[in-house]
Amino acid sequence: MENFEMPNDFLWGSASAAYQIEGAYLEDGKGITNWDDFVRIPGKTFKKTTGDIAVDHYHRFKEDVKLMAEMGLKTYRFSISWARIIPDGNGEINEKGLKFYEELIDECIKYKIEPMVTIYHWDLPKSLEKEYNGWESPRIVDDFVRYSKVLFERFKGKVKYWITLNEQNIFTTLGWMTAMHPPGKFDDAKTYYKVNHHAFLAHAKTVLEFKKIIPNGKIGASFAYSPSYAINCEPKNAMSKLDFDDLKNYWWMDVYAYGRYPKSAFTYLKNKKVAPEITKEDELILKEAASKVDFMGVNYYQTTVCEYNPIDGVTPYATMNTTGIKGSTQITGEPGLFKNPPNNYLETTDWDWTIDAMGLRYACREITSRYNLPIIISENGLGAFDKKEEDNSIHDPYRIEYLKNHIKELKIAIKEGCEVLAYCTWSFTDLLSWLNGYQKRYGFVYVDRDEEGGSMDRYKKDSYYWYKEVISSNGKNL
Ligand code: BG6
Repeated sequence: MENFEMPNDFLWGSASAAYQIEGAYLEDGKGITNWDDFVRIPGKTFKKTTGDIAVDHYHRFKEDVKLMAEMGLKTYRFSISWARIIPDGNGEINEKGLKFYEELIDECIKYKIEPMVTIYHWDLPKSLEKEYNGWESPRIVDDFVRYSKVLFERFKGKVKYWITLNEQNIFTTLGWMTAMHPPGKFDDAKTYYKVNHHAFLAHAKTVLEFKKIIPNGKIGASFAYSPSYAINCEPKNAMSKLDFDDLKNYWWMDVYAYGRYPKSAFTYLKNKKVAPEITKEDELILKEAASKVDFMGVNYYQTTVCEYNPIDGVTPYATMNTTGIKGSTQITGEPGLFKNPPNNYLETTDWDWTIDAMGLRYACREITSRYNLPIIISENGLGAFDKKEEDNSIHDPYRIEYLKNHIKELKIAIKEGCEVLAYCTWSFTDLLSWLNGYQKRYGFVYVDRDEEGGSMDRYKKDSYYWYKEVISSNGKNL
């Protein structure tokens, strides 16, 4: 295994998202987004942090891409902010917005870095919320497809890899179940499944249009995949794993890959009167798109443990650790089906995320067996407190250890038959961690800013030099 190299065209990458890095939230005609608004609601984010300035990538993208080039990065995954392209979501097109991304893409291409574009990474033009409640209305489907087509037309010939939606499971769950993301709704299961159905249709119709405009390109969605383990072999706990997978994993991946919802989960939701309404036409669209997706995008951070949860047991609503104070996360679950206790065999991060390198192999193997699709690891990384020393060095051996162990498992997955096209770490530079402020750092490049602000100067961490060597040896030297 030590000498095993990745395929020659393997895309070693790193990733980001517009709201988390760009800043310039009112510049060059950009419209206000749901996040621009949401972060201003007291108590929603850690120490009232916003992405107004973020890490100022909008003004420093050339410096950032140069750092990527020096590292030898093969692909850079970033997202486009819908409100820069169409400020109100469905009206006039803003040339200045397109120009910004065109320059970014050209800058990547100049250094032979393959741009990988995420069309939607959670920042929605606010006007669409005001006009028809955003994802709650079927009207979003055509507006999303129009926005996507503007991008395809402009960047065809330059961008081959496209990701429709980033973590549909996360933005809908936090947006409509736990009120932690915009639009901040609580326990609204009926709307939650409707919203998801609209998102699936937006994804599917976009895939179909994409194939007409960029037939040789590659497109898929990125799913936040948390593979599950039953806590033990007691049958009711094994069954709780099955229920968890149907409701929390296959609910999304089956639609992307097969164009249909898992039957037992659908029956469960139908009995609760919260299942989405699906027309015959929807079914056909989802099926056709599923036959055309090119890969399953996976954002992998952790695995989950499943245990039977009695009907009066824990609920999906609990405190999440957004402070970095270890042990402050509470157990959640679905009453009557499953709950997700900690895994006693594994370490956790300061934000209580389970560290499970083998889980990445498990995820790849399961996708390969179940869907037989190529895989893009579109995110994987460690959020940690980093310290810049007086000589401006940043020693992050814990991040190197984390990434090394995950890449080792990825190599095994490839050896075992999984077709993995790319591996993107989260993230290239430090950035805003939505609810956790700026202190939860993920980057190879340290950005001198905290919750209050800072110089925004960039400094290479030890992990930067380490990943550079990983790339230049095509994964041989870990
Ligand atoms: C994923 C998102 O959920 O995980 C990223 O796609 C996010 O946008 C990353 O930043 C890490 O999560 P967090 O909450 O630690 O920032």
